[in-house]
Amino acid sequence: MKTMKVHMENRTSRSYEIHIGEGILDRMAMILAKNRWAGRYVIVTDSRIDSLHGERVQATLEKCDLPCERIVVEPGEAAKEIGTVLTVTEQLTALGADRQTALIALGGGVIGDLTGFAASLYMRGIGVVQVPTTLLAQVDSSIGGKTAVDTKAGKNLLGSFHQPKGVFIDIAFLRTLPDETFRSGLAEVIKYGAIEAPGLLEEMESAAGAGTLRETAFLETIITASCRIKKGIVELDEKDLGLRRILNFGHTVGHAVEAASDYRLSHGEAVAIGMVAAAGIAEQMHHLPAEDAARISAVIRAVGLPIGIPKGMDAGEILARIAMDKKREGRKVPFVLLKKLGVPFVNGGIPEEILRKTLEGMRT
Ligand SMILES: NC(=O)c1ccc[n+]([C@@H]2O[C@H](COP(=O)([O-])OP(=O)(O)OC[C@H]3O[C@@H](n4cnc5c(N)ncnc54)[C@H](O)[C@@H]3O)[C@@H](O)[C@H]2O)c1
Repeated sequence: MKTMKVHMENRTSRSYEIHIGEGILDRMAMILAKNRWAGRYVIVTDSRIDSLHGERVQATLEKCDLPCERIVVEPGEAAKEIGTVLTVTEQLTALGADRQTALIALGGGVIGDLTGFAASLYMRGIGVVQVPTTLLAQVDSSIGGKTAVDTKAGKNLLGSFHQPKGVFIDIAFLRTLPDETFRSGLAEVIKYGAIEAPGLLEEMESAAGAGTLRETAFLETIITASCRIKKGIVELDEKDLGLRRILNFGHTVGHAVEAASDYRLSHGEAVAIGMVAAAGIAEQMHHLPAEDAARISAVIRAVGLPIGIPKGMDAGEILARIAMDKKREGRKVPFVLLKKLGVPFVNGGIPEEILRKTLEGMRT
């Protein structure tokens, strides 16, 4: 098992460790028992993950004499809303949960965000332990303390920063993950490669060629590399005031394309298209060498993610959605671009004609 520490500024008590390995649940239970973060634990998970892994995780904690219960919600993004938070907190009250209770977020990004948010509110804040079960959650959402739920007006509009007590990444969970969900997580790993570790892109392209993308050794390599990058960025910019924005590489066009597809495209597919677009824009604005842009498209294609705008999707609609981006500043939408692979920067706004030309050029 590998361990790395996330150092939060000026507050040793909020710093925490990320543990990564295969079959690490027993060791997780021992660490929880030793650290005494809570007198009892409540696992929050969704019904799909619960049927695959819920009982086993609960039993592992109980074996270490840690009192433990489970709360199960519906799977999917639709459950990431305030009504589910209220249901979870009502169930916590019914279970007699108090400030000595901590939550365990057992699931993908939806469960991680929802559970973290509920933990940040319940009795003015209780502990949460992140146990991510999707690749996206293992490389991205479980680290950094961002929690949120969606509202009718948009995604992640209601949320808080609530750092976890610890993050336990068990690669074994990924064995039951459907291919499409797995690929979605790969898009975020490609993002890390593009913004900070070009060597990762090479490794991914050759693993895709060799058919070893889902092998444990490879997964451990890319998850460890991704966590190291995410933790480094979060340590410098916990509250998303500057540097953390570079994690949005590919996400501005990505979010617009995801919404324009009525969420038929997965988040990872949309981010993949968004990264190709951002690379294309950077190339046209003379920042990014053509071969770097080509590398990004090549690795995206190699892992089975899309590089073009789907047929029938209107560029005008994508542009309109980009203009409404939640990260806009006044009338401008900041864009994360690359000077070269591994060197990202935030551009204050892209001329509409360059955006339109790039999107039109990406038609399939
Ligand atoms: N907080 C952050 O910093 C951050 C960062 C990125 C994304 N997010 C959020 O993450 C969410 C997306 O997360 P996601 O992609 O993990 O999707 P998800 O949480 O919806 O999980 C996808 C599906 O996979 C199933 N699943 C999960 N683990 C499984 C396993 N091991 N085996 C079989 N099935 C499994 C789930 O039941 C679900 O149906 C979005 O809401 C997004 O806003 C948050």
